[in-house]
Amino acid sequence: MKVLILPDAAAASDRAAGIIAEFVRREVNPVLGLATGETMRPVYARLVALNDAGQVDFARVTTFNLDEYVGVPADHPASFAAFMHANLFDHVNINPAHINLMAGDAPDPDAEAMRYEAAITAAGGVGLQVLGIGRNGHVAFNEPTSSLASRTRVKTLTEATRRANAAAFAPDPVPRYAITLGIGTILSARRCLLIATGPSKAAAVARMIEGALGADCPATALQMHQQTTVVLDEEAASHLELRDYYETVHPAGAEPRLS
Ligand code: GLP
Repeated sequence: MKVLILPDAAAASDRAAGIIAEFVRREVNPVLGLATGETMRPVYARLVALNDAGQVDFARVTTFNLDEYVGVPADHPASFAAFMHANLFDHVNINPAHINLMAGDAPDPDAEAMRYEAAITAAGGVGLQVLGIGRNGHVAFNEPTSSLASRTRVKTLTEATRRANAAAFAPDPVPRYAITLGIGTILSARRCLLIATGPSKAAAVARMIEGALGADCPATALQMHQQTTVVLDEEAASHLELRDYYETVHPAGAEPRLS
């Protein structure tokens, strides 16, 4: 894993947006895998600013999202579909026909999960998968004990994850189930970019990067991926034992080229 440690959340968000923009510029048909969550808001805001400034063009971009709550329609304010429109899609020049979202209210969620997995394959796979991390080490909604080879399917959420997402649904309860890309699906992306900021992520981040591969922390599966970049702020990096090493390799998050 390439570990880039930036001074604060703003710098980490800028850096992550820069990596996404660079990917979009370089690819002929960029396929982005996108995440939701508070961590992503400033990253998407920066991408919108780059799009406004004419520095990144979304016209050729195809997107897939990581997950959606079961039983929640796209127009529900707490849906991940609504999040994506409010934070990114409605503000950039993406072709709406290229946006692929899961239908949380599909009558058969298992069939919807299979349809989505097939759609990713039909699009040629994800080129850059953007990820956050849950405090318990989940990625997308692959909760601890998820199969590290799993594909897109319905998962039951942990109570901890439901509590972490309670504000979006209050006063209603958070749904119990979600459709989520599998860990195997995520590992099939050509590149992964995980962003984590703030002290609440420090333990999960340390476990993901330096801990033993294991289903108790699904994010550790990224150790098996050949091209994963992790962008952190200092707080999220604070439990890393080998922090000095990462900062030697990538001073202030830079990516020096070997000459
Ligand atoms: C949810 C999402 C994940 C996200 C995680 C962290 O559980 N399904 O994709 O990474 O929350 O979210 P936040 O950035 O709000 O901490």
